[in-house]
Amino acid sequence: MTVQSADRPSMIEFQDVHKYYGDYHALRGITASIRAGEFFSLLGPSGCGKTTLLRTIAGFEGISSGAVMIDGKHMEHVPANQRPTNMVFQSYAIFPHLSVEQNVGFGLRRDPRSEADKAKAVAEALEMVGLKGYGARAAHALSGGQRQRVALARALILKPKVLLLDEPLSALDKKMREQMQVELIKLQRQVGITFVLVTHDQEEALVMSDRIAVMFEGEIAQLADPETLYRRPNSRRVADFIGVMNFLPATILGEANGQIQVEAAGLGRVEIETNQAPGAISEGEASVGFRPETLTILYEGQTASDRETAGTIDEVVYYGDMTYYDVRLDGVDKPVRISMRNVFGRPVLDIGTRTRVAWSAGALVLFR
Ligand SMILES: Nc1ncnc2c1ncn2[C@@H]1O[C@H](COP(=O)(O)OP(=O)(O)O)[C@@H](O)[C@H]1O
Ligand SMILES: [Mg+2]
Repeated sequence: MTVQSADRPSMIEFQDVHKYYGDYHALRGITASIRAGEFFSLLGPSGCGKTTLLRTIAGFEGISSGAVMIDGKHMEHVPANQRPTNMVFQSYAIFPHLSVEQNVGFGLRRDPRSEADKAKAVAEALEMVGLKGYGARAAHALSGGQRQRVALARALILKPKVLLLDEPLSALDKKMREQMQVELIKLQRQVGITFVLVTHDQEEALVMSDRIAVMFEGEIAQLADPETLYRRPNSRRVADFIGVMNFLPATILGEANGQIQVEAAGLGRVEIETNQAPGAISEGEASVGFRPETLTILYEGQTASDRETAGTIDEVVYYGDMTYYDVRLDGVDKPVRISMRNVFGRPVLDIGTRTRVAWSAGALVLFR
């Protein structure tokens, strides 16, 4: 994460952007600001409008109303090729019959610089993405990860202020994708330009981004840094989309002095701070949510530092470093998931085991 990114000036501004494809309302009032030098992600399920929004930055897509500003300038009459942006497509968008350096230098073909200067720029771009010495190779002979680097070098050589990436890693296998994620983060820090990434993969967005806009159906549901999105999602829908969140039915009894009194199934009566209820809440039926790692199964002799409840283990999934337990808390039908880090010498518990469970009011989020 970039330190003090909040102090940076804005690079991209969306002001109440609407986009229609015929009758279809694809973008429904997008207002947001992306900061200079930020690694920003658009995250959401397929069809929610991520690519459309990204293309309005590039100028590949016109908008129906509202405004897109880049670096303080209104983009309405600025065509794509005159915007300070460049788009990285998936790795298969490189030309297989050209060499690596021909691919990278492709965008410079109308550049007035001398051939020697262009060759130098190509070599620099290749070095930047870790492909020094690969210039003469045939592009078709490269691995998926190397092709992705060629696509990046080809975009970076034009020195854009904003790099736009539309699911650039989705064609790679899991190991390669994780490696490229780390490389992309490093590269973004090194070049310092604004990156806007489109992804439907919540883990990828959490790992890579300074901030994330979570989108559903043409709208931004929440825009925040990864930790806020994870710890304080503003709706059940966002909570469900980002990681695993358990929900228990709850009744709101009242509110006093910044505390909301709640009766939650399986947990009992609890006071929740109003800042742990990021959505609009009033009295009545609600639910409390908590992440699997915020509950702890207590082994014999252990005591809870805060609150304690009890239940029965319903399912056990062993992951080596972690075990996921589905625990049926007393008085609740649906089991909750609890993740426990495995500790050497401590047994994995069996299905059917009665167990005490430690929890804390501070980890709960209250939803409508
Ligand atoms: N050129 C187009 N013409 C008509 N509808 C489109 C066009 N491009 C995208 N759409 C529709 O707009 C919605 C958003 O698409 P898109 O931005 O590609 O979503 P995402 O990238 O989040 O998967 C989808 O329902 C899609 O079918
Ligand atoms: Mg898309």
